[in-house]
Amino acid sequence: MESIVIQGGIPLQGSVESSGAKNAALPLLAAAILADGPVTFHRIPHLNDISTMTNLLAWQGADVTYDDQDRLTIDTRAANKPEAPYEMVKTMRASSLVLGPLLVRFGEARVSLPGGCAIGARPIDLHLKALEVMGAEISVEHGDVIAKAPNGLHGGRIFFDQVTVTGTENILMAAVLAKGETVLENAAREPEVVNLADSLRALGAKIEGDGTDTITIQGVERISGGDIFTIADRIETATYLAAGLITGGDVTVSKTDPKLLDAFLARVKEAGAIVETGDDFIRCAAPKRLQAVNIHTMPHPGFPTDLQAQFMAMMCVAEGTSLVSETIFENRFMHVQELVRMGADIQLDGHTAVIKGVEKLSAAPVMATDLRASASLVLAGVAAQGETVVSRVYHIDRGYERIEEKMRSLGANIERHYI
Ligand code: EPZ
Repeated sequence: MESIVIQGGIPLQGSVESSGAKNAALPLLAAAILADGPVTFHRIPHLNDISTMTNLLAWQGADVTYDDQDRLTIDTRAANKPEAPYEMVKTMRASSLVLGPLLVRFGEARVSLPGGCAIGARPIDLHLKALEVMGAEISVEHGDVIAKAPNGLHGGRIFFDQVTVTGTENILMAAVLAKGETVLENAAREPEVVNLADSLRALGAKIEGDGTDTITIQGVERISGGDIFTIADRIETATYLAAGLITGGDVTVSKTDPKLLDAFLARVKEAGAIVETGDDFIRCAAPKRLQAVNIHTMPHPGFPTDLQAQFMAMMCVAEGTSLVSETIFENRFMHVQELVRMGADIQLDGHTAVIKGVEKLSAAPVMATDLRASASLVLAGVAAQGETVVSRVYHIDRGYERIEEKMRSLGANIERHYI
């Protein structure tokens, strides 16, 4: 089992580069299933979930290669297995993203039903209902979704009862090769959805309205191969900016895009941070002490649920009392008890956490439970005086490329121990 060991209390300073976004790369890789030619991907991060997805595509029969500039090329023309078996995808919930592309290309698909995870049940009922509107016959057998579209998929008008990011992405991809027009209403507006739509358009898809809550797709016969560019990881970016703020430091993240983080930057400014931005960088310098600020997670452009745990860690040492409300997932407060072990003063009241800021956190052994909770524990660890040991760090490796290396480049005393 691997752990991350941190000697905290050092103000973090300096600059670190953002990686490509995990939550953009996963749908982009799935989109290769639609392409009638090789697709070269630029800025795909090296993360466990990405390997799971590329291994799955190779297993389906695609040709998957990395060149000497670390560029990934995937050619799915030879793929002939429209499946995603449990054994291959059980660690990656985003496997549902191959369902729409496989179904519209092969007329059938068998994809393991994603299990829940620590933060919630994570159903995909909205994905399946939308595919049925497009003509699919769906059943669930032995833990797999069995989808059939013997006459292909046709367009339709789809209203998502709840904003769903991968639901929007899955159906967007299915609609690209479906017959006729598809309109997605109450669609997700996340930057990763726009990155996917931009990329599909570059390969020949006809898509309008991405970035708004209504997306219209005109089905086409085929889309070609080509080059696809992943946007910066806004969640990773904000995590390193938070590391500077929670330690009283001054951190710049480069190769990123401030336009991806409007809600987060507005809140940290409210908390007293000095924020400087340019075309491709963001700098956050800490005030003498952060001020308590309330947040309420919402679909984009609201405050991202994926930054809730990291923001809470900052509020643990802020001056005053803050309220953090989680409206997207039903169980995304697993980090609270671990932060309390480190001296935080947090009371839970349903989907709202009440955080009374303390002067200092105290280092302690803690346990990661999910990806973003583990990031918040690393943030608490770099802030706390003494040695913090974060165990079960396989969670963090799913979403943060070379986290110790990047944190060390900012002056953190952080190591990975294999025990
Ligand atoms: C994506 O998950 C992200 N993952 C998540 O990031 C992110 O937290 C989430 O969007 C919200 O922004 C990827 O993009 C790979 P949803 P997704 O469908 O698409 C309910 C991280 O830390 N819902 O937008 O699975 C669902 O239960 C991860 O990087 C249904 O009820 O999330 C949730 O309450 C964690 N039925 C809400 O909608 C459905 O069919 C939003 O979920 C689909 C979703």
